[in-house]
Amino acid sequence: MSYEPTDFSSDSIARAEAYLEQVKPAAEESRWKPKYHLSAPANWLSDPNGFCLYQGEHHLFYQHHPYAPKWGDMFWGHVKSRDLVHWRHLPIALAPDEDYDKDGCFSGSAIEKDGKLYLLYTGNVWTGSDWTRDLLQVQCAAVSEDGTTFAKLPQNPLIKAAPAGDIHPCHLRDPKVWRQGETYYMVLGSRSRSDRGQALLYRSANLLDWEFVSVLAQGDERLGFMWECPDLFALEDKHVLIVSPEGMKPEGDLYHNKSQSGYMVGHFDEVRGVFEPGDFHLLDYGFNFYAPQTTLDDQGRRVMIGWMSSWDEEKPEGAHQWAGTMTIPRLLMLKGEKLCSTPLPELENLRRKHVGHTDIALENEVVLTGVYGSSVELEIAVRAGADSVFGLKFGCSRDGAEETVLTFNGPEGNLVLDRTRSGEVARGIRKAPVKLQDGRLILRVFIDRSCVEIFVNFGEQVMSARFYPGEASDGIVFFGDGSAVLEKLDKWEIDSCWL
Ligand code: FRU
Repeated sequence: MSYEPTDFSSDSIARAEAYLEQVKPAAEESRWKPKYHLSAPANWLSDPNGFCLYQGEHHLFYQHHPYAPKWGDMFWGHVKSRDLVHWRHLPIALAPDEDYDKDGCFSGSAIEKDGKLYLLYTGNVWTGSDWTRDLLQVQCAAVSEDGTTFAKLPQNPLIKAAPAGDIHPCHLRDPKVWRQGETYYMVLGSRSRSDRGQALLYRSANLLDWEFVSVLAQGDERLGFMWECPDLFALEDKHVLIVSPEGMKPEGDLYHNKSQSGYMVGHFDEVRGVFEPGDFHLLDYGFNFYAPQTTLDDQGRRVMIGWMSSWDEEKPEGAHQWAGTMTIPRLLMLKGEKLCSTPLPELENLRRKHVGHTDIALENEVVLTGVYGSSVELEIAVRAGADSVFGLKFGCSRDGAEETVLTFNGPEGNLVLDRTRSGEVARGIRKAPVKLQDGRLILRVFIDRSCVEIFVNFGEQVMSARFYPGEASDGIVFFGDGSAVLEKLDKWEIDSCWL
């Protein structure tokens, strides 16, 4: 088999890059464009793709529509970083310009082989007007020798059709590949003919010829009708399967977003091609977290980045010629059967001006000297009783009209994120089940203009949200019922992540 690639895509990429140059200034002026959360230079960004380490640098690609701040024919945008903290934009990597991917280079992953960087992605073609049914999804690859310019392989598509069996013939996407010994494996997002979410397992000796192995795991009726963006990896002595199910129904306080992302801890038997999963748990209890992807970094750590948006929410930043951000990189660790995610420690390198306070009684509202800002990190330790109610508000306007509120509600045993008065558009509340640990709540809150990520008790829960405050709404206020003490608060201004 000849592996000579052909480079068809340079025209479409050059045109898209030229367009981005024109609209970039408008996007850069946006008061909502984050400083240290990744976003496209302009226009649409969604799923992280191709997160990988290649020749000592971390590469991240993303679903990108360079021509509009809304979803459309997907390209792959591209950024890279040595340390996962400071990033640089690179030219667009893939454009939808072949017959087999003409309506979108959908999500996928990347892997190094023989010194070259391979992207595996889904070529999407609409075959009619009903986009839930009239589509052809095939799996394709592109290769690069320099990590910047990619050429689609002449053998494309590598996987032309869904395998036989209880597998939907059209919905087959988002290849995540990895190598185990001499064998390459791929998991693919799929749905059964009776509309259950499932992940398929494939195997290859050369990354090009793929053999279907098995339905790796299938959800019950609770777990939606389609699993997007599966990711399977070993962590400590277990395996973790991450999936993004479409169509889960709300259950109590959980699953109120249109689509959610979660994980199952289990055991992967690569000989039988079976994953025996434990229960499904959310990766993030906020409003905006979807389609995450993980990689091993240069220190062998499992790092995850997610798309910090969602399909159903309005994106008012579109008026500023951009849409969509990523989460910060999160380190994944197991505590028993629980997957914890914590901010990548090296993000501390972005910390600048510091303000600290200790031992403040949280009675009514408390404003602390120097504690405000729109691109900041807060480290918070509160000593409280199990029945205490306390919290903080951020994105507060001077007149009190705008605020985003985070409340620990001891009697209810949860942490509540409330966007009722957040500013433009974004609304609603989300609740995460949270308990005090040794009589304390430990929070790390990353606020970045229109993004907030809240890490609870060393990553046991995370809540992410987009919110759209007014120009001057950068106030931060603590509050409480008098039974809790803010033992320690550290606040840093956070620098830009862009080189
Ligand atoms: C997830 C997803 C993927 C698909 C991509 C298209 O957000 O629907 O399944 O590949 O987005 O942009």
